[in-house]
Amino acid sequence: MVNVHIHRFAADGAPDDPETVRFFHAQWTIYQKLVDANVLRHREIAQLIHEALNARFMGAFTFLDIACGDASLAKRALEGTRVARYHGVDLAMPAIEFAAANLDGVPYEVDLDYRDYAADLAERALRADAVWCGLSMHHLDTDAKLRVMREIRALIAPGGLFMLYEPTLADGETRADYMRRIRPYVLSEWVMLSGEELAQILEHIETCDLPETSESWISLGRSAGFSQGREVYAVPGGFFRVYRFLP
Ligand SMILES: C[S@@+](CC[C@H](N)C(=O)[O-])C[C@H]1O[C@@H](n2cnc3c(N)ncnc32)[C@H](O)[C@@H]1O
Repeated sequence: MVNVHIHRFAADGAPDDPETVRFFHAQWTIYQKLVDANVLRHREIAQLIHEALNARFMGAFTFLDIACGDASLAKRALEGTRVARYHGVDLAMPAIEFAAANLDGVPYEVDLDYRDYAADLAERALRADAVWCGLSMHHLDTDAKLRVMREIRALIAPGGLFMLYEPTLADGETRADYMRRIRPYVLSEWVMLSGEELAQILEHIETCDLPETSESWISLGRSAGFSQGREVYAVPGGFFRVYRFLP
């Protein structure tokens, strides 16, 4: 893996915690089935990011993947772009290992940080032209989402781009209404999951997810200092949406 460099931050107190790793494995198998069946529209979203990158960057650019998982979506999005360096951050070591294997041999430099992205962002150790965060920020409360988005805004180079993919409430909807609405959607659409897997993913959604309305995601971006923010894609059903922010 000559192009891939893994940075471990466990020694300075980053999460190397067995619960994180256990949770990752339990959730990842389920998530992978959803990705393989394309119910979360990873293929369309990769294409959308690909087009946004090619429209915005005429020369070499750097790409930061926050909560990168196995980096498969980013790898697809980056193919055929002018990317010079990919930087992925994830707090689960298995994700970093999957990402390293996936990105082995790609024609750009790869740095992988095994770390909580909040720590990386808070230290302002990062700099990038394009930043992507897929299905991770919704575990934070609204204030923490804003803090993270401010930090992302601060690290993006002029002329850059930030894209975000997150669960989204319908206009005027409460979290409780969303949870009532998503349960029958998941049970009828995510048919590739077993009964036990459906119960696990619903429990995860109902206990961990803190979606925002589309207006709120966009307004968080504006409050964070982005001059433009808009919704650019909604997965059928509208529960998951992609946003694009420009500095
Ligand atoms: C649902 S997966 C999404 C992976 C990938 N972004 C994608 O769109 O396919 C969520 C990922 O976020 C990572 N993650 C969650 N919280 C994190 C944090 N605070 N710092 C770094 N990674 C985090 C998890 O380990 C997992 O790999």
